[in-house]
Amino acid sequence: MRVSGLIRLLALVFALVATWLFLRSYMNLSKKTIRLPRWLGLAPKKTEVEKTKCGLSKPCPANFFAFKISSGAANVVGPTLCFENEMIMSPVKNNVGRGLNIALVNGSTGHLLRKDSFDMYSGDVKLLVKFLVEIPEGMLVLVASYDDPGTKMNDEIRKLFTNLGSSYATQLGFRDSWVFLGAKDIKSKSPFEQFLKNNPDTNKYEGWPELLEMEGCVPQKVF
Ligand SMILES: *[C@@H]1O[C@H](CO)[C@@H](O)[C@H](O)[C@H]1NC(C)=O
Repeated sequence: MRVSGLIRLLALVFALVATWLFLRSYMNLSKKTIRLPRWLGLAPKKTEVEKTKCGLSKPCPANFFAFKISSGAANVVGPTLCFENEMIMSPVKNNVGRGLNIALVNGSTGHLLRKDSFDMYSGDVKLLVKFLVEIPEGMLVLVASYDDPGTKMNDEIRKLFTNLGSSYATQLGFRDSWVFLGAKDIKSKSPFEQFLKNNPDTNKYEGWPELLEMEGCVPQKVF
């Protein structure tokens, strides 16, 4: 009696497992057969969203370069500079620094020419003046602040950034947030700039304003 009960139980378990295996393979099969040929026009739409360059919310038109610039968050998280899907500077790449992070990109080819960060709190800003003065014609200039872009800021540097199309370089100060894309031979103000003043009444973090993030499409320079 006992033995036959055990056998019955085993038979039941076996039947359940077999049913489960059968259903599983059957469902796999039906999933496969449900696909219709593409030419019927009934193929399921790709749900996967196509990745844009630099993770932009929408892709750039032809003959435009995609960019995304984020300032640092307080003195904790470093800034990022992305151009045409190339992460030029970022905390992950470990090539950012407190102060101003700047990359020069050829406005017609999109190729990176130079990148550097400049300590604007205790650093020697003569290096930044030299860097800005020596920017060749036709270069795009990407800038992101981190922690403090303002302490060592002087009139000469403000003027050089203003000449690159900046509207806010004149008021850049201690612990302000700033992201900017300008150009060497720009004729007007750059539309690509965001600025947040360090203000204890409105600061998001204790001692710093919120980080800034700016994305956009900049027209390729054609000669
Ligand atoms: C930028 O690219 C153009 C086209 O290839 C080239 O003629 C020019 O010399 C480049 N500029 C710099 C500064 O590399």
